[in-house]
Amino acid sequence: MHWWQRGAIYHIYPRSFQDSNGDGVGDLAGITERLKYCQWLGVSGVWLSPIYPSPMVDFGYDVTDHTDIDPLFGTLADFDRLLAEAHRQGLRLLLDFVPNHTSDFHPWFVASRSSRDHPRRDWYIWRDAAPDGGPPNNWISVFGGSAWEWDEATGQYYLHSYLKQQPDLNWRSPELQQAMFDVMRFWLDRGVDGFRVDAVSRLIKDEQFRDDPPNPDWRPGQDPYHQQLHLFSRDQPELPDLLRRMRQLAAAYGEPLLIGEAYLPLPRLIPYYEAGIHFPFNFQLMRTTWDPQQVRAVIDTYEAALAGAHWPNWVLSNHDNSRVASRLGPAQARVAAMLLLTLRGTATVYYGDELGMCDVPIPPERVHDPWERNVPGLGLGRDPERTPMQWSAALHAGFSMVTPWLPIAENFAQCNVAAQQQDSRSMLHLYRRLLQLRAAEPAFESGAYTSRFSSDQLLVYQREHAAQRLLVALNFSAQPATFAEAGLRGKTLLSTNQDREGATVQDAIPLEANEGVIVRLNAPESTS
Ligand code: NOJ
Repeated sequence: MHWWQRGAIYHIYPRSFQDSNGDGVGDLAGITERLKYCQWLGVSGVWLSPIYPSPMVDFGYDVTDHTDIDPLFGTLADFDRLLAEAHRQGLRLLLDFVPNHTSDFHPWFVASRSSRDHPRRDWYIWRDAAPDGGPPNNWISVFGGSAWEWDEATGQYYLHSYLKQQPDLNWRSPELQQAMFDVMRFWLDRGVDGFRVDAVSRLIKDEQFRDDPPNPDWRPGQDPYHQQLHLFSRDQPELPDLLRRMRQLAAAYGEPLLIGEAYLPLPRLIPYYEAGIHFPFNFQLMRTTWDPQQVRAVIDTYEAALAGAHWPNWVLSNHDNSRVASRLGPAQARVAAMLLLTLRGTATVYYGDELGMCDVPIPPERVHDPWERNVPGLGLGRDPERTPMQWSAALHAGFSMVTPWLPIAENFAQCNVAAQQQDSRSMLHLYRRLLQLRAAEPAFESGAYTSRFSSDQLLVYQREHAAQRLLVALNFSAQPATFAEAGLRGKTLLSTNQDREGATVQDAIPLEANEGVIVRLNAPESTS
């Protein structure tokens, strides 16, 4: 098994993890300082959201140089130190590879827009205006408005799937492809352990630039991006070939991990696996109604779709979506943690979720996210889930010596690493115990998954490896519930309430409100 199949990945948003130089923004030296914490927590690898030079209009997802470090975060020497230290501590390091677009300040784009004849013109996607002078087609940007921006100087439109400051690269150009493959080689040569590939489904667009059809299910008040079905602006049939080449390139370095970011329905994710992406993120737990029957359906459908051929993965939160503790409340966030870390497949843990950190309300004058500015009032802004890590009850939560770039949660004096490390019943200790169990129990690490039971309150499943069987019973409700089954025998290994470990199970598992338990089942009695 690969390291990423055995362990969990910890997702760090670098601006918000640890500020070491007193500018209110996190940096690489700060992350290096805190690697010991990641090791103590028990994750196997760390993924960093972008750290490259950037005007930070989309907070690093608008890159001006893919092979350097933004001074805000440090230098390449700081990066090398971070990588060496991570490896010394037995942690893997993944970078965010942003291949779909660059910043409009990237020298490639500056060259491309300088003239229609520039050799790099076709490194980006330029089109003539429609006959009426408007955009070449109806495609819309994820962040609001048309996906096309008029360039007065050269008299054409360029495509931007996100902000107009993030022009899309043209992966149909062989030179551009090589240039981006060189970027991957640059970091692999330095020793990184893989990439999370940003917006991977968008790399290839329809060659004929056909209009996207309207979405009949869209209603006013919903995210305007969903007004259309994005049939032509992303996820095109030529993409798998390109991904195959990416995987071949990576394979020359051993087996660095390639994770794809794509918000697509499950059947459309399978070709990403087939093309060699180790796994496309599975965001279903962030989208599904928190109901045991629905969650069971998600798991079982996913397991069936992967058909034993592809490796599962699970995500509860990330830097683009509301945090799990805010979506489900603090009690169910513990149940969700047990689910995340006992399902089959790689778990990605978003920094701070292990403390039960919540979305932080952002006063209008402190809003940073361009999405919130462009499409206000719909709750699309992502600042709330990007606030500073809460390390201690000290000033600025131990994150920085100065006022941080985003506000710190009001509850930081109680909800922080130092306090929770002292409290064996804390969320932090629950995460740590779950990660330890995962590493210690082959049934969790690699065992088969069997769906056992669901009701309005309960979800029960089993993980199994050789003679070892672990039963996970989760109470999704605020009332007690019992899972009863004649002949059920075992011992409780862990409870989200952390107070009945070692308890014997006989014919039934009584669960308190909002409780999840892991039970080691006795080996079936021999009848001979
Ligand atoms: C997905 C990233 O996760 C998000 O933060 C970013 O804004 C877009 N891709 C554009 O790169």
